[in-house]
Amino acid sequence: MTVQEKIVSLCKRRGFIYPGSEIYGGLAGTWDYGPLGVELKNNIKRFFWQSMVYERDNIVGLDSAILMNPQVWKASGHVQAFVDPLVECKICHERFRADQIEEKKVHQKLHQGAKISWTAPKEFNLLVEAKLGVVEDAKQKVYLRGEITQGVHINFKNILDSTRLTIPFGVAQIGKAFRNEITPGNFTFRSREFEQMELQYYIKPENKEVQKWNEYWKKERMNWYFSLGMNNKRLRFRKHTDSERAHYAQDAWDIEYDSPFGWKEFEGIHNRGNWDLGQHQKYSGVDMSFFDQEINKKYNPYIIETSGGVDRAAFFFLIDAYCEEKDRVILKLHPKLAPVKIAVFPLLGNKPDLIKKAKGIYNDLKSKISALVAWDDRGNIGKRYFSQDEIGTPFCITIDFQSLKDNTVTIRNRDTTKQDRVKIDDLHRILQTRLKL
Ligand code: GAP
Repeated sequence: MTVQEKIVSLCKRRGFIYPGSEIYGGLAGTWDYGPLGVELKNNIKRFFWQSMVYERDNIVGLDSAILMNPQVWKASGHVQAFVDPLVECKICHERFRADQIEEKKVHQKLHQGAKISWTAPKEFNLLVEAKLGVVEDAKQKVYLRGEITQGVHINFKNILDSTRLTIPFGVAQIGKAFRNEITPGNFTFRSREFEQMELQYYIKPENKEVQKWNEYWKKERMNWYFSLGMNNKRLRFRKHTDSERAHYAQDAWDIEYDSPFGWKEFEGIHNRGNWDLGQHQKYSGVDMSFFDQEINKKYNPYIIETSGGVDRAAFFFLIDAYCEEKDRVILKLHPKLAPVKIAVFPLLGNKPDLIKKAKGIYNDLKSKISALVAWDDRGNIGKRYFSQDEIGTPFCITIDFQSLKDNTVTIRNRDTTKQDRVKIDDLHRILQTRLKL
């Protein structure tokens, strides 16, 4: 099995990620996050919000609607330009993106030597359409948002009017986006429904400001992944060529991860210029300018955007953390990301004194640590440790016979397997420090 296959299997078996609509045969490009997956994703989102909104003075949050007036997508250029080149195999009519060379090679093999010819590339729009309204014939065609970005830009005036922000300032948002991807694949990497975490940062429309903030946000975002434990040798920047840049971008950089299926994008840092505000001003007729009191002038601010995928980040954090040692599998997730922070075990599952003492500690930790704390009293202790290693639990607490005598417990470290003994009275404080909570 490849590492990717092992992770996909672990995700299903241990409750991280399940295929969407599985009991009905599935729905390509959709995934459901299980009890551990939702924790991992929530942790990623929480620390994104922490680093963007709570730790800064000039960035606010927003949660805009998924459904928007279809004019939004005309103005943003997505109705015309949010397209991928689609080609069709002339033998079986399966569809591919013209630029997906590897996928096309794999497909070629399926036809066992027969020479495939492909149709000429056609532009295929990725926006997902829906119908809205209660009267069948009068239903309005709307789009599920193809990027979460536009919900921010159409609220530019509202945000300015309801806060005291002044340029430069940012708006952070996390939410679902939908794309009619031609070939969803590589687990959650390319899905049709996924979550994005973005910052739209409004700056003065000047070249030197663009350079400054572009560099600043590239560094900040790269460092954010490092701060959550990602291996710095597996991350790099890549600049988009002119032909691959999205229609809204004047300059685009990807943060790429060295994944089992090659270097792949999981966050983009884009200079969107004044494209979005300019377009919404033109289509809505609403003035989208900012009056800059410093220079006594109004202008449409430029936008530096950081746009990351929550699902891709979760997948890449899992790959990065996956590790096999001689008799165990470990997810070496940063404690901040680990779905279960602590597991509590009585040494033996059939000794009422041990169970009672351990339950007391378990309940106490549950009430104090606002994250998952696990309980396990089945089988032998070694198996319980290994079971927690496989889901990335950083620390296991064991209550043994000595605990009954001197009110101490052992803390076992996931990565080193070393144990130390601490007083129960100090346990919560020590765990908080070690978990970096
Ligand atoms: N607002 C800019 C924007 O949406 P993008 O490069 O198209 O830019 C940003 O998407 C991020 O969203 C990507 O870096 C990726 O992490 C995530 N993403 C995009 N398409 C995705 C898909 N089909 N499945 C999962 N994540 C996706």
